[in-house]
Amino acid sequence: MLLEVAGVTKWFGEGPARTPALRDISFRVEHNEMLYIVGPSGSGKTTLLSVISGILRPNSGTVRVEGKDIWALSADALADFRLNTLGFVFQDYHLFPRLTTLENVAVPLILRRIPWDRCLQKAAEVLKIVELADKGALTPQRLSGGEQQRVAIARAIVAEPDLLILDEPTASLDGDTGKRIVSFVRNEVLNERRAIIVVTHDDRIYPYASRIMQMEDGRITQLPESGQ
Ligand SMILES: Nc1ncnc2c1ncn2[C@@H]1O[C@H](COP(=O)(O)OP(=O)(O)OP(=O)(O)O)[C@@H](O)[C@H]1O
Ligand SMILES: [Mg+2]
Repeated sequence: MLLEVAGVTKWFGEGPARTPALRDISFRVEHNEMLYIVGPSGSGKTTLLSVISGILRPNSGTVRVEGKDIWALSADALADFRLNTLGFVFQDYHLFPRLTTLENVAVPLILRRIPWDRCLQKAAEVLKIVELADKGALTPQRLSGGEQQRVAIARAIVAEPDLLILDEPTASLDGDTGKRIVSFVRNEVLNERRAIIVVTHDDRIYPYASRIMQMEDGRITQLPESGQ
């Protein structure tokens, strides 16, 4: 098992303003599995991804990745986990505006102190996979929304993370491009040491899922079947 989420709750605000976003969430993700999380807007999907990826501390419950309780780690160890184990594509991309497309993709490798030439070479290879080989020298503001989304995907997969997390990765892509990119990502990333979690509203990419989990109002409404 790669990921085990057990009894996770998260609320925002305090007192009368307190809003529950996650209510007692438990599920597992196995190696070599591509799990989709679907559900209405506001049901807690992005909040759940933030808790799993060490961005947002839950009010209770545990998140274990490869057996390690990530919320029990020191700040340094948590940063290390996020750098070395995780790849994340945010719903709103979060690209660095002053870096070129190629440099944006190279950032996770640069942070790992890999030699500069090798970083750029590897980043160029991954830009090719997302069909942006010719846009490497441009800054993000000169790219379309769909192109920025593909840069964010390239940046998330470049360092070969064990757990890849994608929040609405095809929202700005047309149907064919979305399917092509997701199928590329699946083929490139998924293996017996790795897993992918995708939050999506896009039913055109459902065929690529190993399993689909539903959320509603902070709860899992449809429990995943065991196995794949
Ligand atoms: N930082 C925050 N402060 C207060 N409330 C928040 C915060 N982040 C999320 N929420 C609330 O938590 C609930 C779940 O939000 P979340 O972003 O996880 O939903 P979502 O399922 O990702 O929705 P969408 O499909 O629109 O992206 C919502 O009611 C939202 O208003
Ligand atoms: Mg969201």
